[in-house]
Amino acid sequence: MDIKEKLQEMEERIIKLEMNVPKTFPPVKPLGYKDKKRILVSGGAGFVGSHLVDRLMMDGHSVTVVDNFFTGSRKNIEQWIGHENFEIINHDIINPLFIEVDQIYHLASPASPPHYMLNPIKTLKTNILGTINMLGLAKRVKARFLISSTSELYGDPEIHPQSEDYWGNVNPIGPRACYDEGKRAAEAICYAYVRKENIEVRVARIFNTYGPRMHINDGRVVSNFIIQAIENLPITIYGSGKQTRSFQYVSDLVEGLVALMNGNYSLPVNLGNPDEYTIEKFATLIKEFVGSSSPIVFKEGLEDDPKQRKPDITRAKNYLNWSPKVSLQDGLQKTVNYFKKEIQMSKTGLRS
Ligand SMILES: NC(=O)c1ccc[n+]([C@@H]2O[C@H](COP(=O)([O-])OP(=O)(O)OC[C@H]3O[C@@H](n4cnc5c(N)ncnc54)[C@H](O)[C@@H]3O)[C@@H](O)[C@H]2O)c1
Repeated sequence: MDIKEKLQEMEERIIKLEMNVPKTFPPVKPLGYKDKKRILVSGGAGFVGSHLVDRLMMDGHSVTVVDNFFTGSRKNIEQWIGHENFEIINHDIINPLFIEVDQIYHLASPASPPHYMLNPIKTLKTNILGTINMLGLAKRVKARFLISSTSELYGDPEIHPQSEDYWGNVNPIGPRACYDEGKRAAEAICYAYVRKENIEVRVARIFNTYGPRMHINDGRVVSNFIIQAIENLPITIYGSGKQTRSFQYVSDLVEGLVALMNGNYSLPVNLGNPDEYTIEKFATLIKEFVGSSSPIVFKEGLEDDPKQRKPDITRAKNYLNWSPKVSLQDGLQKTVNYFKKEIQMSKTGLRS
């Protein structure tokens, strides 16, 4: 029996054993009926959504995840399956949804370039029709609504750092337009519902976020660099490497999303970490952090790749009392450990 077969047999035995043992869940705060909210998280099986679900569940709320599993996965939320406060609906948000909720965190949308470019029409539909459907639901049940918008809305910015007053510099017909313009339209739709239907809306403009549960093949810079470094493969930089990015750890983002949802501020708010790195410096840093022998190689730049990215978080500080807390060192440690485990699992055939 080779190692793969042995592991498979062990996994089957563990599954059988687990079926006989009552499942245990992470601890959940007891909440009275006045404080306990029914919360919908669209895209809750994805990277950010699943961390948000953890937080809301542990806070004692009832959480319903709506996801079509395009980039999300059941394993991201398996810790809650079977819990009395948790429900999951396999549903594509380009179709209307009818349920009763108090708050909606609308996160459903592919987020990484290879995913959103795979089917640009579907990306536009998800961001436009999907957002209309989620807002229609918010209107019907009078729920407060938060949308995960993006720093991509600023395009290739001429203003640095980017504050929320900046209207952006987006190529409306380029390969990234399906996402950038989809999110811009989604924001416009939100504020149309505010003006016309009096919906309570919150808009989070999220900057690059990283952490465990990132998709292993999502082609984003953090996951690419870490995987290449772990595997001692060439670390690929597209373009000169002088372009800058800022990276926030996912738990900081979740704190910001919850503070925004439950606060009184209704204009867009940047949520990101203002520590700025050139991509070249970031590649070197990850290489050293992992202790990798990977060479760093440069390839032709990507179309419409922004030259600089750094959030101005004055608004989040002033109105939400929020700023990122997790150091790059701590965040990377957790993320590298996660990717090491994922790579090992995929090599043993236990995960694809
Ligand atoms: N991660 C980041 O760095 C980042 C940065 C800016 C904005 N955002 C935004 O945050 C949100 C979550 O991003 P993420 O990184 O967790 O991405 P992700 O791909 O891991 O999660 C997105 C989730 O939405 C689901 N989904 C996609 N289309 C759907 C549809 N039509 N119907 C139902 N479900 C659908 C996917 O299956 C997945 O579970 C997205 O809206 C994204 O635009 C993320």
